[in-house]
Amino acid sequence: MFSLKIFIDSADLDEIKQACEWGIIDGATTNPSLIKKAVEKRAEKNSMEDYIKEILKTVPGPVSLEVIAVKADEMVAQAKLLYEKFSPYGEVVIKIPVNPSLSEGDHLDFDGLRAIKQLSREGIPVNCTLIMTPEQAILAAKAGAKYVSPFAGRIDDYIRMRMGMKIGVDYKKEDYFDYSLLCRIWDLKLNEQIAKCGSILDACKSQEIRKLDQTIHDNGIISGVDLIARIVRIFRIYGFKAQVIASSIRNARQVREVAEVGADIVTMPFEVLREMIRHPKTLEGIRDFMADVIPQYKEIFEHR
Ligand code: E4P
Repeated sequence: MFSLKIFIDSADLDEIKQACEWGIIDGATTNPSLIKKAVEKRAEKNSMEDYIKEILKTVPGPVSLEVIAVKADEMVAQAKLLYEKFSPYGEVVIKIPVNPSLSEGDHLDFDGLRAIKQLSREGIPVNCTLIMTPEQAILAAKAGAKYVSPFAGRIDDYIRMRMGMKIGVDYKKEDYFDYSLLCRIWDLKLNEQIAKCGSILDACKSQEIRKLDQTIHDNGIISGVDLIARIVRIFRIYGFKAQVIASSIRNARQVREVAEVGADIVTMPFEVLREMIRHPKTLEGIRDFMADVIPQYKEIFEHR
């Protein structure tokens, strides 16, 4: 029996508390950037430990906490510390980056997988983060991750960047990534280049055309939603048990689309949750209903 779970992608206790009160939250995901943002916003300065305990006590499901080391043995030690310290307060899941390497030559590419293997052997649940390809998701699942977190929004950003678009300049972070529209526009550019070639064979051989074509996808991945769809498909074909957490979600339409392609879980910012509930015709409808209440009907509620 499959059911879509909703996580809140936030470390902001006020947001987490409010969303949990709405009764639709199944878990939460944090990362160091989200913790930084939440702490900078917060006026009262209680200890980090107490703050995290409070998050765990609030959320009625798994809460992902990320390690900050990059070597396998250090990540394992940090994971155990987080797990032991915070498990009495809620359901702790440890976030491990799929590839913690910070630079060429540090030989840490596989340390994330090594840590996941070790932790899963010891029964500590892992959410493998920073997944940008189905290939990475396969490796994380093979290593024993309980969850994999592919970053849909960041892949959309990456494809836009390859096309020459800048976040904050050409589009807003929360804008829907309309791949089919961009593709239709891109096709015009491509057709122009093809027309310049002497023959079909020349077009096939043209490095320029190939380069142009490659800018509108990331090694065959055409969007963040496509990334999620492909991972879900591969996991279902082979019966991988790892659950797919659609992450880096930027808008409500993206939530719908990752749900349509079978993501197990969607983790989303507070603002996206709010966006999901709103529609101008719902607002108009409720206003009309309220304006149309007749006194006789209202009376029923007044004499209980
Ligand atoms: C969640 O697990 C991720 O850390 C988060 O979704 C990243 O989102 P962002 O790309 O909007 O920072």
